[in-house]
Amino acid sequence: MKKIFLDLGKQPLANSFLKDLSKKTTKSEFFYNLKICFNTSNFLVSIKSPVNPKKQYTKKYAHRASESQTMRSAFKSIAKNLQKKFKPKRVMEIGSNDGVFLKNFNPKNVIAVEPCKNLANITKKKFKTYPEFWNLRLSKKIIKNKKEKIDLIFSANTISHIPNLKETLLSLNNVLSDNGVIVIEDPSLLSILKNNSYDQFYDEHVYVFSAIAIQHILKDYNLRLFDVDKISTHGGSLRYYICKNLAKYKSTPKLKKFVDLEKKNNLDKFETYIKFSNRVKKSKKKLYELLKKIKNENKKIISYGATYKSTTVFNYCKMNNKIFDYVTDTTKNKQGKFTPGTHIPIISPETGINETVDYAFLGAWNFKEEILKKEKKRIKRGLTFVSHVPYPHIISK
Ligand code: TMP
Repeated sequence: MKKIFLDLGKQPLANSFLKDLSKKTTKSEFFYNLKICFNTSNFLVSIKSPVNPKKQYTKKYAHRASESQTMRSAFKSIAKNLQKKFKPKRVMEIGSNDGVFLKNFNPKNVIAVEPCKNLANITKKKFKTYPEFWNLRLSKKIIKNKKEKIDLIFSANTISHIPNLKETLLSLNNVLSDNGVIVIEDPSLLSILKNNSYDQFYDEHVYVFSAIAIQHILKDYNLRLFDVDKISTHGGSLRYYICKNLAKYKSTPKLKKFVDLEKKNNLDKFETYIKFSNRVKKSKKKLYELLKKIKNENKKIISYGATYKSTTVFNYCKMNNKIFDYVTDTTKNKQGKFTPGTHIPIISPETGINETVDYAFLGAWNFKEEILKKEKKRIKRGLTFVSHVPYPHIISK
C-alpha cells in the first residue's frame, strides 16, 4: 500500500528555466503537486503522481553532467574501475547526457541512450546514440541491431527518473548478457533522511531508491542485487550492482552491511518518514527566519547554483527575488533565464559574485567542498555561505 508522508506543494518542473517573464511565458508555466509516498509492501519511496516524461526530457534539457569538476572526475574514475573489474566487451549507458562517462571507453564498443535530442546530438558525433526513451521497444531494437548482448549497462541518475520501473527492469534484463552487470547510481534514501535534504524530491526523481527496496523489486525480474557502494555524488548516492539470478557474482559482505544499516535506521517503517516530514516542516520555517533576519540587516543575499534541487526549496519555502537578488550559475544555457516558479534572474558568476554580495545560499550544496575551495578568496574578503543541509545554518569560516 502506498502512503503519502510529505507534501511539498505546487511545484514547476525543476529544469524549466524561463527565457523571459512575459505574460505568455509565465502563463504557460506548468505546475504539478509534489507529494511523496512510501510503499509499505516493497519499501519504495516515490512521487505520488509523476509528471509525463515527454514534458521533462525535451530538446531544451539544461543539465550538463560535465559542468562540474567533481562529476567529471567521478565519472572518469568509475569508468576506469568498471573496465578493470568486469572487462566488458560491450557497454551501454542509459541517460548518457553529454557523454561524460562514455568518453572514457573505446567509442566502437559503446551505445548511448539519451531521449533529450540536444544532448543526443552531442554524443552522436562520437558514439552510436539512440535519441530515445529507455523502454521495451528500444531494448528489442538494440538486440536486433547488434546481435550480441551487453556486458555492462551503466546508468547514473536516470533509472530513478523513469516512471515505469517494471518495463525498465524487463528491458534491462532483455539486453543483458548472462554474466553482464547493471550498475545504477541514484541518490541514497538514507542520506536524504540523514541530511534532511528534501530538495532531492523534484519531478525528475520519481523514485528515491534504497538497497532494501531494490532487493525487493528485483525479485520479480530474474535479477538480483549483489553489491553496493556508498558514494558522495549528489549529496550521498548509492551505486547498485545488479546481475541475472544465475550469474556468477556472489553477494558481498558490504551489501549485507548496508542492508542491515538501512534496517537499523528503520527505512522499512512508515513512522520514519512521518518523522522526516516533521523535520522538513521545521527546516522550512528555520530557513525562512534565517534569511529574513539577514535581509532585515540590509544585507544582499544571492543564491549559488541554479540547481534543480533549489527549485524545490524556493517553491516550497516561497522564496523569490524579495529574498535573493539573483542566482549565479556556470551553465551558459541557464544564464539570462529565470528560476522555475519563483522567477529569480540567473546570471553568470563572473557578473554576479562580487564585493556587493554579503551572503550566498548554497543551492548547489552537493558541491560544497568544490565551491568553498573555489571561493576561498572571496570568503576571506567577507562572502558568507548559508546552507539548509542538514539544517538551516551559516557556514562558519
Ligand atoms: P546539479 O546539482 O543539479 O547538478 O546542479 C548544479 C548546478 O550548479 C549546475 O547548474 C552548475 C552549478 N554550479 C555553479 O554554478 N558553480 C559551481 O561551482 C558548481 C560546482 C556548480
